[in-house]
Amino acid sequence: MPVTTTNSGAPVASDDHSQSVGADGPVVLHDHYLVEKLAQFNRERVPERVVHAKGGGAFGVFETTGDVSAYTRASLFQPGATTEMLARFSTVAGEQGSPDTWRDPRGFALKFYTDEGNYDLVGNNTPVFFIRDGIKFPDFIRSQKRLPGSHLRDHNMQWDFWTLSPESAHQVTWLMGDRGLPASWRHMDGFGSHTYQWINAAGERFWVKYHFKTDQGIEILSQAAADQIAGEDADFHIRDLSEAIDREEFPSWTLSVQIMPYADAATYRFNPFDLTKVWPHGDYPLHEVGTMTLNRNPANYFAEIEQATFAPSNFVPGIAASPDKMLLARIFSYADAHRYRVGTNHAELPVNAPHSPVHSYSKDGAMRHGFADPQRPVYAPNSYGGPAASPAAHGNDSGWESDGALVRSAATLHPEDDDFGQAGTLVREVLDDAARARLVANIAGHVSKVTIPELRERVLAYWAAVDVTLSQRVAAALEPSAPGANVAPEEVGIGQA
Ligand code: HEM
Repeated sequence: MPVTTTNSGAPVASDDHSQSVGADGPVVLHDHYLVEKLAQFNRERVPERVVHAKGGGAFGVFETTGDVSAYTRASLFQPGATTEMLARFSTVAGEQGSPDTWRDPRGFALKFYTDEGNYDLVGNNTPVFFIRDGIKFPDFIRSQKRLPGSHLRDHNMQWDFWTLSPESAHQVTWLMGDRGLPASWRHMDGFGSHTYQWINAAGERFWVKYHFKTDQGIEILSQAAADQIAGEDADFHIRDLSEAIDREEFPSWTLSVQIMPYADAATYRFNPFDLTKVWPHGDYPLHEVGTMTLNRNPANYFAEIEQATFAPSNFVPGIAASPDKMLLARIFSYADAHRYRVGTNHAELPVNAPHSPVHSYSKDGAMRHGFADPQRPVYAPNSYGGPAASPAAHGNDSGWESDGALVRSAATLHPEDDDFGQAGTLVREVLDDAARARLVANIAGHVSKVTIPELRERVLAYWAAVDVTLSQRVAAALEPSAPGANVAPEEVGIGQA
């Protein structure tokens, strides 16, 4: 058995007794090992993620089985390529330690260690989001978290924000439906959600949406089961993933993409960069790309999951941003969060470091330990053979045409740029009767905790805008004693919005 040492490597005398003046006397300040233990303990935490604080993940591999080389030059998506990767799954609003089975979207964050740098795809288990402009994100999240005084979560606050932000309707329908309570992370799909840009070797551009379909099949929890599990095992989903991998039941997902020709965006029937919308598969079908398989648990949760930093700004040649305003806000936000939460040199940590060479001019800063050849110049341009930026390597490819006056506006330039249409289609055409019944029950259960009568009225109006029948059924479920409330609205001839 090795001898315990201080952090500086010197042997220590005792982990049981501080140094004191006599056996019962006061401890002394120069017991620096006692000081080191207490001080180190006080600094064990980094700030939790401001959202998606509770999560878990695993390492794996992505294998490209399809041929999408006509659409992207990205090396990881070339036929036959295999790329090491990391996935982290999470809830959104709950803090570290909160139950895995609270109703919430689930984060689906992926880091691909490609041979041209890290590619991060930071998505969710839903294809859309609550808002379409990043300036609303802090307000939205605060409304889902806790009241400043009581520190309680508050249904009034949640529904107040949602009903005042009608663009939320599509995502709230997903959230209140089955996808809000996946049975496990293995049994849910993942989506890149945003529209991204792909660029092929000839420099041609395309718009794409990513879909990761679970090969385990979709499984969900009932609200009652989720509530019970929340009390019995707050870490239910972390445990499920970790134990499945220990059993060598490696979960996998098949990645497909929808591809829109670059020029279609201008004339499509709705803004294809609006994150509250899906692209109907009838318009843009799926093209299979490959398979992601998770096959290795982290050896250390803090080092490899808590300190993992996923950033939508981490693109590789052949993949770039789109004009989605949410995506553009996120491109700033995550790298900023990482500098604060983990530190300015977070990219040096093994879990975040690319598996390809780094030739950056950044230097120094807190906890920096890597350094370039001391003979290499520390500035660019230089005459001494230092790294040189290359439009050809980068692909000079991340652009789109844009012009106009500076404004603050959500112009609706396309005929179907509305808030409620796709939510209504989801309710009427995608869900079956049983799923619709669960949706009604889930909404009513949630809204039953809204204590302000006018707000309940507004909530019913919000659902009526999605689908009149749905709203009627929610109203009936909320007030079973109301006249006719137990009659299915279809039976009394109530039509659709
Ligand atoms: C985490 C900001 C929208 C998915 C985070 C974090 C921030 C953030 C600051 C914590 C990062 C960290 O500390 O490591 C924002 C902003 C948004 C936005 C400003 C809107 C403008 C979205 C959307 C999605 C998403 C639309 C999914 C489509 C995630 C995921 C994580 C996360 C999965 C956890 C990443 C991990 O596992 O480390 N977000 N977010 N976010 N966000 Fe967002």
